[in-house]
Amino acid sequence: MTTTMKTWSPEAFAAAVAAAVWAPSIHNSQPWRFRHTDDGVDVLLDEGRRLPVCDPDGRMARISCGAAAFNLRLALAATGAPAGYRIGTGPVVVHLTPGPPCPPTPMQRRLHWQIRRRHTNRGPFADSAVSAGGPVNLVEAARREGAWLDFVTDDAAVVALAELIRSADERLRADPAYTAELRAWTSGANHDIEGIGPHAAGPAPHPAELLTRRDFGGAGRETTRDLARRPEVAVLGVLGDAADDAVRTGMALQCVLLTAADLGLATAMFSQPIEVPACREKLRRSVGRIHDPQLVLRFGYAPTTCYTNRRPVADVMEP
Ligand SMILES: Cc1cc2nc3c(=O)[nH]c(=O)nc-3n(C[C@H](O)[C@H](O)[C@H](O)COP(=O)(O)O)c2cc1C
Repeated sequence: MTTTMKTWSPEAFAAAVAAAVWAPSIHNSQPWRFRHTDDGVDVLLDEGRRLPVCDPDGRMARISCGAAAFNLRLALAATGAPAGYRIGTGPVVVHLTPGPPCPPTPMQRRLHWQIRRRHTNRGPFADSAVSAGGPVNLVEAARREGAWLDFVTDDAAVVALAELIRSADERLRADPAYTAELRAWTSGANHDIEGIGPHAAGPAPHPAELLTRRDFGGAGRETTRDLARRPEVAVLGVLGDAADDAVRTGMALQCVLLTAADLGLATAMFSQPIEVPACREKLRRSVGRIHDPQLVLRFGYAPTTCYTNRRPVADVMEP
């Protein structure tokens, strides 16, 4: 028997998509679309918004879509209508179907509340260690979504990781096509709806900083010092290197970022060493994993900085 009944009301679908779009995405490119189907919801990778230079294989776009799918799942769970899901390797990166109704758990409520509060922080982080329970909770959040999150605890290893980020950033910046693409999503972008405007870019990177931030065109600042002398950094990955593994990483990424926000932690992301294959391989060996690392994350305490914007919900929904 075929059914033509949609599974969620148009209003419930639109509300879930309105939460999904607040996911992080590479350069705030928002490479996603959402389709209400007869048996569920599709999250689609919008190829037209993939970054051809820094993301030739679509890894970063898939991580971004996975993060959006996690928000979608959370938004549906928060209404008592949790969804099951299947990850795909084609243009439909995630297909969600309704599961048995179930009241949201306290944790789901808290993480849902953080969707609009979480943001990437490119300002200086305070020089205070993350409280003892922090890393344990973040590792557990990644594990719940089938990922690993390895904190880099040894001082020498942090310095080595910082060196990898710096050398990857240098290699990327040496390519004029890369800098042109970066500028298109910063100074060239329509910041009301996409890309990273000067308000969210953070101060201009300075050579004295241990962790080399991507240069999104922010202005210089009076103090070039990053207050955190010993940053809390971790490497995120899953048990695989295929296209669907990047989507799975994105779900875990968003679970970790929302958990961090719930713990009062600021977060920042560094994907430069993942985008340069030789650096990614060095990073993989340094954390002793079989599969590719997918992202480097930083956690700490920092004042809230400016938020990026999103396209209207109607623009990302398939008719
Ligand atoms: C896969 C991925 C890679 C990212 N890489 C970086 C990065 O290298 N540097 C950075 O500052 N932010 C990075 N970000 C953060 C995005 O720039 C950020 O999510 C986007 O601008 C939206 O802003 P928001 O996170 O504050 O909502 C990355 C995000 C994702 C999902």
